[in-house]
Amino acid sequence: MSNKFNLAVSLIGVVAGLSTACASASEIRAAILKEYEAIVGQAFSADSGKQFWYQDNNGRSCTTCHTESLLAKGRHERTGKIIEPMAPSVNPKRLTKRKKINKWFLRNCKWTIGRECTIQEKGDILLWLSEQ
Ligand code: HEC
Repeated sequence: MSNKFNLAVSLIGVVAGLSTACASASEIRAAILKEYEAIVGQAFSADSGKQFWYQDNNGRSCTTCHTESLLAKGRHERTGKIIEPMAPSVNPKRLTKRKKINKWFLRNCKWTIGRECTIQEKGDILLWLSEQ
């Protein structure tokens, strides 16, 4: 094999790697939704996700920190730390890492509603957020 050929092969590898990295944001959300859907056995509802997001639970809701607008920056209720907007349309880094999504769903559901969210609830919310 010539060096030129090797170089061409590695360049193709880099280009392929880059394009998967770009495509992966919405693909990750789609993959998670598909997995959840297989577990609950029915499609998710963006409307229910939206309702859940704005629902008041004894003075707490998802908007307590993320604010009423998904397009705006939020602020952590306790620490005052700025939270970047939740809508992927204005914040492309949103909802692109499985580990992060899982971690915060767990933590924030417990804080907001006093228990873990069900897979149905997470699917509804994730679908709705993905469309923003
Ligand atoms: C007490 C403040 C607080 C409340 C209330 C809260 N969140 Fe969050 N949320 C955060 C913080 C802090 C982060 C992580 C910082 C960041 O992503 O900018 C986060 C991140 C997330 C993420 C990860 C986003 C990503 O890009 O992967 C999801 C999903 C999420 N929250 C969902 C919810 C849901 C659903 C509710 C309501 C049940 C909720 N949050 C309520 C503070 C809060």
